[in-house]
Amino acid sequence: PNRKFFVGGNFKMNGTVDMISELINHLNKAGLDGKTEVVVAPPSIYLLQVKEKLTPPAQVAAQNCYTADSGAYTGEISPSQLVDANIEWVILGHSERRSMFGDTDKFVADKTKAALANGLKVILCVGETKEEREKDITMEVNERQLEAVARTIEEKDWEHIVLAYEPVWAIGTGLVASPEQAQEVHADLRQWLGQRVSQKVADSIRIIYGGSVNGKNCKELAQQPDIDGFLVGGASLKPEFVDICKSAD
Ligand code: G3H
Repeated sequence: PNRKFFVGGNFKMNGTVDMISELINHLNKAGLDGKTEVVVAPPSIYLLQVKEKLTPPAQVAAQNCYTADSGAYTGEISPSQLVDANIEWVILGHSERRSMFGDTDKFVADKTKAALANGLKVILCVGETKEEREKDITMEVNERQLEAVARTIEEKDWEHIVLAYEPVWAIGTGLVASPEQAQEVHADLRQWLGQRVSQKVADSIRIIYGGSVNGKNCKELAQQPDIDGFLVGGASLKPEFVDICKSAD
């Protein structure tokens, strides 16, 4: 299967006008050749700044959006507003939103549906906690999160989704999943999609890994057959992000 490697940089709630401008300059100078699809996700207040400065083919993602097009939803951003601002992607279902901001499986699925209906592409995040892994319910949790989306969207919609497997225990902890641990879940997720959605979707969808990826550990992870890229948090704020973008070259 010919899946284009994908690297997302999730800045989370970090940065300033100046710092983000420096990061984007660095990325622009890195000579990314488009072999890997690169997408950066700054805090929403910086989306337009990044969109204006970032050299294509690198693209921009929001870190969240709401379901409705417009209205009395103080503090929210709609999928159609992102489209209006020429933002191509949105991250949905990040574990930080699930654990701290009330994003349930159903809410994530509804947001995914709304984003796709407006023409956005979605980086959909799933992942188990440390306790869930220790209880041996890793796949049960990941499948439950994915099932909510599968029953809400249509088969053709999956073409516009990149699936990010982000074990919560690996996020921001320095405890990166081993290549074998990540590969095992990625392969299971692909198999699940093959049975639940279609073989075509299973073969073509990019499944990317997130959780303490850095310039040093990315190469070995990138070699795993079912790891099609990364969603990078902390290291996306550092010059080494460029090395991660080039890890499959
Ligand atoms: O979205 C990114 C992930 O949460 C990974 O974050 O690279 O800082 O562990 P991290």
